[in-house]
Amino acid sequence: MSFNIAIDGPAGAGKSTIARKLAKELSFIYVDTGAMYRAVTVYLLQNGIPPEDAAAVEKACGNIHISIEYQDGEQQVLLNGENVTGLLRTEEVSRLTSGVSAIGAVRALLQELQKELAAKNDVVMDGRDIGTNILPGAQLKVYLTASVHTRAVRRYLEELERNGEADLASIEENIAKRDYQDMHRAIAPLCQAEDAVLVDSSEMDIQAVTDAIRKLYQERAGL
Ligand code: DC
Repeated sequence: MSFNIAIDGPAGAGKSTIARKLAKELSFIYVDTGAMYRAVTVYLLQNGIPPEDAAAVEKACGNIHISIEYQDGEQQVLLNGENVTGLLRTEEVSRLTSGVSAIGAVRALLQELQKELAAKNDVVMDGRDIGTNILPGAQLKVYLTASVHTRAVRRYLEELERNGEADLASIEENIAKRDYQDMHRAIAPLCQAEDAVLVDSSEMDIQAVTDAIRKLYQERAGL
């Protein structure tokens, strides 16, 4: 049976960095489910479908096929066979995906793929509803969070390095807005699973968080 580690939490808590690092250390595969939701948004933008029009999005879902593959250990997302990994991280896609991921048909489209990957492989899977909905039987569930301010400062520094400029106040506002949307949607809202371990990374660096989760894994796996 495969070993599944579910890491959920709000945007900017460090989930993807930590999940990727942990997966590498454990020789598990890293599954970034947010990237799959982002790829759906890319499809909508490429095809002129308004992301806020739930009926149109639901209809479009019939034409969307998302799959993933790995290149040098890095997850690549294929949208109808085309690698769209390079298009997923724009500010526009980040902003719109929160709304797109609240649509039931979109969640239904992606959940089978996520479940299948975890059934067949040892995975570290990160997202918003992995421990609560997708992998309720995961052997280890972590709810990784940090204060809004800490998360905004992290994003600010990343953007500053990438673009040479960034606006902390607007980043903080966008993070708070996405948190609210992700936590208050009707279907599969972001919340801590009852049996998840809470890890607050506000005062911890990446290595400390990774070490803490690896320790939990070793305990659960009886190593
Ligand atoms: O983790 P991320 O920032 O790449 O996620 C992008 C959006 O997708 C985020 O607003 C919440 C949503 N999402 C989700 O609803 N369920 C998941 N399992 C993963 C992401």
